[in-house]
Amino acid sequence: MSRRATYREAHPLPFVINHWINLVCMILLIFTGFCMHYPLLPYVMGIVRGIHIFSAIVFFINAVVRVLLSFVVRSAQYEGTREGLDRDIKNFLPSKANRHQFWPWIKYYLFIKKEHPKGTKYGSPQKLAYAALPILILLSALTGFALWSVTADYALFAWFTDLLGGPMNVRMLHYVLMWIFIIFIFVHVYLANIYGSSASKMMFFRKEHGGEVIDPETLEVIGEDDLSEPPILPPDRR
Ligand code: HEM
Ligand code: HEM
Repeated sequence: MSRRATYREAHPLPFVINHWINLVCMILLIFTGFCMHYPLLPYVMGIVRGIHIFSAIVFFINAVVRVLLSFVVRSAQYEGTREGLDRDIKNFLPSKANRHQFWPWIKYYLFIKKEHPKGTKYGSPQKLAYAALPILILLSALTGFALWSVTADYALFAWFTDLLGGPMNVRMLHYVLMWIFIIFIFVHVYLANIYGSSASKMMFFRKEHGGEVIDPETLEVIGEDDLSEPPILPPDRR
């Protein structure tokens, strides 16, 4: 099966930078998180906590910026086209092109179906997983700031600690959330690379890759792009 072309319009630069920041923060948070959970190196706990809090604040601000940018930056809604740009937030919402595709996608993931449904840039389960991230990040921040001595007494965090029944429960939820992130990252990295490295080369280095080109109006394949000029256009715009 030929692959769709991978174009920069699918992943504008601000999102690529944002994704890099997510990756670096995640590595630091998970490493320092494990160091705190298993305090095998008591002499460096101060610096470990410092790095954890610093990367947590950067990670949280980065998530807020990502959500806000998705309302103003325009990106391609489909793979294999530089056209049909729209507000990026639409990539994460249900759309007509994905209707009734959730279960076919799950069947594909479970190896019951050979081909996955064709629709928007992200499949239905992928949209759900990405849309769940801001909620998970918010919960991590709530539990994290409720544990941090500097902010633990703030009304919101103190209320949250009471709601969960004390700091030990907050700590457990914070730890469980880390495992949810770890599972997300494993699945995400696996699925992002099963068709080859072109999606990751785009996401990290903005390197384009040739392949099938589609008309974003009809979603029909209109040619094969080897990235030489001129760009392939739908028949009515040639
Ligand atoms: C987003 C804002 C976050 C803040 C403000 C924050 C803050 C904190 C603080 C203050 C602690 C120390 C708790 C203690 O001394 O008992 C802690 C522990 C920890 N954090 Fe975070 N954190 C955040 C996000 C994350 C994320 C995203 C992860 C992992 C993906 C993570 C993983 C951990 C782990 C594993 C621990 C050790 C928990 C334990 O003792 O079992 N944190 N965090
Ligand atoms: C080595 C680690 C990672 C790899 C190889 C990777 C790879 C990718 C790829 C290839 C895409 C584009 C998917 C597509 O176009 O279909 C993507 C998108 C995305 N990734 Fe990752 N990723 C990694 C780590 C992370 C981490 C740590 C997070 C967040 C905690 C994350 C969150 C996202 C999100 C939200 C998107 C949607 C696009 C966007 O926000 O601009 N990724 N990733």
